Amino acid sequence: MPADEPVLNQASELASSSLSPAARILIMDEDPVIRDIAFRKLSSQGYDCKCCADEKIALRLLAAEKFDLVLTGLLETDDGSTTVIRKILQVSPDIAVVLLTTIVDIDLAVNLLKDGAYDYITKPCSMEELSIRVAHALEKRRLLRENENYQRTLQKQVAERTKQLREALGVLEQTYHSTLVALSKALDSRDSDPNHHSLRVTAASVRLARHLGLSHPEIKAIEKGVLLHDIGKLAIPDKLLRPAEALSEAEQLIIRQHPIIGHRILSHIKFLQDSALLVLHHHEHYDGSGYPQGLKGGQIDLGARIFAVVEEFDQLISVNRSGKGLGFK
Ligand SMILES: [Fe+2]
Ligand SMILES: [Fe+2]
Repeated sequence: MPADEPVLNQASELASSSLSPAARILIMDEDPVIRDIAFRKLSSQGYDCKCCADEKIALRLLAAEKFDLVLTGLLETDDGSTTVIRKILQVSPDIAVVLLTTIVDIDLAVNLLKDGAYDYITKPCSMEELSIRVAHALEKRRLLRENENYQRTLQKQVAERTKQLREALGVLEQTYHSTLVALSKALDSRDSDPNHHSLRVTAASVRLARHLGLSHPEIKAIEKGVLLHDIGKLAIPDKLLRPAEALSEAEQLIIRQHPIIGHRILSHIKFLQDSALLVLHHHEHYDGSGYPQGLKGGQIDLGARIFAVVEEFDQLISVNRSGKGLGFK
């Protein structure tokens, strides 16, 4: 059967008996004898082969049909601007390219491999060698594609799991937040504050923290800390929180324990630990006149300083127990 026509096609008996489709090989060489010998040898081994003599037909075939390997004796493109390999790979990026050439030059071989060739066979070569090298190149391509598929599947799975985890984390965070809000409301009601003082100062503290350019984790820590700033009051008797008359010095000392108690509570809860310092410092004053440690300026936790400003402002504009407040426009 002639193999030196521009395009020839022959599926082998082996390929037709195989369960998986035969590998498709495009043989491109100017020499009709080489094309014919390679065609006969590779077809006899079950490959589905086509032949062509020049670059234009080869590129047209590669664009129109699916090939697994191209065996080429052509190195330079017609215009000499680039190697044939590069053009082949532009049209068919995942094809295996095997060079068949008479040029014995290590530098050239290295460059061709760099361009993406799988193998480099120098003529003359035995048909046995040719078929072995072709088989190796196809096996290498199969493994590479398998690996790529595996990577793609893995990336897809990782992306899917990450999405699921993010969603679960979002639900968990929302649950935590709702729990903290409920606790905060309970604390406010214990303090006889019907206007959700803690929620109000939390929202304002978060806004101020954002305005100051704090990071997301810092803002979250401030949010939790402000919501729970008075959690230590759980340990303070009701009669001291809502006294009928002025508190004695001893009673005031008890009240002043609440930041320490609150700090102790939060320190033992992992997801609240980063808010514990805010709770401990929330009654410290910038001039050192606060409690429980009498810290000054930068010694005080930044979140607590933000809270202090907001808390003071909130007290000024809120209607207090005596019915007075500056209001806010
Ligand atoms: Fe407090
Ligand atoms: Fe408060």
